[in-house]
Amino acid sequence: MALKITVIGTGYLGATHAAAMAEMGFEVLGLDVVPEKVELLASGRVPMYEPGLEELLAKHVAGLEGSTGRLRFTTSWEEVGAFGDVHFVCVNTPQKHGEYGCDMSYVDAAFASLAAVAREGSLVVGKSTVPVGSAERLAATLPAGVDLAWNPEFLREGFAVQDTLHPDRIVVGVSGDGAGRAEKLLREVYAVPVGEGSPFVVGDFPTAELVKTAANSFLATKISFINAMAEICEAAGGDVVKLAEAIGHDERIGNKFLRAGVGFGGGCLPKDIRAFMARAGELGVDQALTFLREIDSINMRRRGQMVEMAREAVGGSFLGRRVAVLGAAFKPDSDDVRDSPALNVAGQIHLQGGQVTVYDPKGMDNARKVFPTLAYADSALEAVRGADVVLHLTEWREFRELDPAELAAVASSPVVLDGRNALDGERWRAAGWTYRAMGRPRA
Ligand code: UDX
Repeated sequence: MALKITVIGTGYLGATHAAAMAEMGFEVLGLDVVPEKVELLASGRVPMYEPGLEELLAKHVAGLEGSTGRLRFTTSWEEVGAFGDVHFVCVNTPQKHGEYGCDMSYVDAAFASLAAVAREGSLVVGKSTVPVGSAERLAATLPAGVDLAWNPEFLREGFAVQDTLHPDRIVVGVSGDGAGRAEKLLREVYAVPVGEGSPFVVGDFPTAELVKTAANSFLATKISFINAMAEICEAAGGDVVKLAEAIGHDERIGNKFLRAGVGFGGGCLPKDIRAFMARAGELGVDQALTFLREIDSINMRRRGQMVEMAREAVGGSFLGRRVAVLGAAFKPDSDDVRDSPALNVAGQIHLQGGQVTVYDPKGMDNARKVFPTLAYADSALEAVRGADVVLHLTEWREFRELDPAELAAVASSPVVLDGRNALDGERWRAAGWTYRAMGRPRA
């Protein structure tokens, strides 16, 4: 009999995981405590922009024409308990208000509800990013006969479907008497990607939990490293893009995650490194992660540096100046504006008296909710119309494909600042623009 799978929490992680499990052939029941989310998903739609996800839902959500019917959604815990052989917990763990630590209340609530309904012999699998030590604590809250495994998720927004269907590794933490059985069940769940070659790494609870925070800390460190080099290049007249290309040829360093610019944001990297620091403090080893404080501050400094570049470009003061901001999402192919460097820069300039107009291909609705006082345009061309300076802050393909000559004709002053080192500077210069980029010499 094929395993029956439930997915608790249907945000980015859960909705994608549920759809991917259905794609791998399982019967899946997704639960969310928000009835509106369940209704939306049951109609095959998602509350965020994620390439390929709605197509996958259309293929599997029960009741949709031509679907396999393998995927359903509910708000009922009883239904989840009766249905599931394997329960994946995918709820979010945001940063606590006013402190670095991670808010475990959604995870704790999900476990309490599951503990009351899970069948004997079923397996609970934690996917949420949690402070190390959580799995051991949570395992003790489950009834006898219900095992726990920890299976962190590494999906990137914008590539969530691809990363879930074809993960570059599957990490599983198991413990105690049920360890062998838990591993066996998860090998069955992930038989398709493992068959395609995804490595399956088994460890204990703390190691599995730490893999996730260690990976995100490493990625954040790589970005802040290259941004620190950008600061040096700015002072010394070097070119950070060339530098990144050259050091990236060394296989030990690699060329990925070395794009200098306004830095990292989003719902994961910033809060995960802070929660990791907080946890290290609790464990009495805060010194081990003191460097992450510096990683965080290098990252936040880039936003300020972008504001300063823009201020200089408009003659020293934003008062009465029009600033076009291309990008609001924290990265391209996403509508997520959580801790977005682009919106942060737009907001700072606005608060300093600039007239800021923002355009983003997908992030406009979310941006409006966070910063209702900024002006929003329906296209890049409209945002740039009358602008004294243009800031490129999220590297959407649409922005690389813009016609700089067409934009130059409507800008008040053709000055573009590339905060992502992604535009073709030569093309913009040839069309009459003054092009400046972070960490690169002025032409
Ligand atoms: C990240 C991790 O990559 C993923 O494995 C984890 O599961 C969740 O956190 P995500 O938040 O989707 O994923 O974004 P990611 O693609 O990692 O980018 C994070 C931020 O870094 C973005 O703001 C991006 O613009 C920035 N970035 C990335 C850079 O500034 N330079 C780079 O070279 C790469």
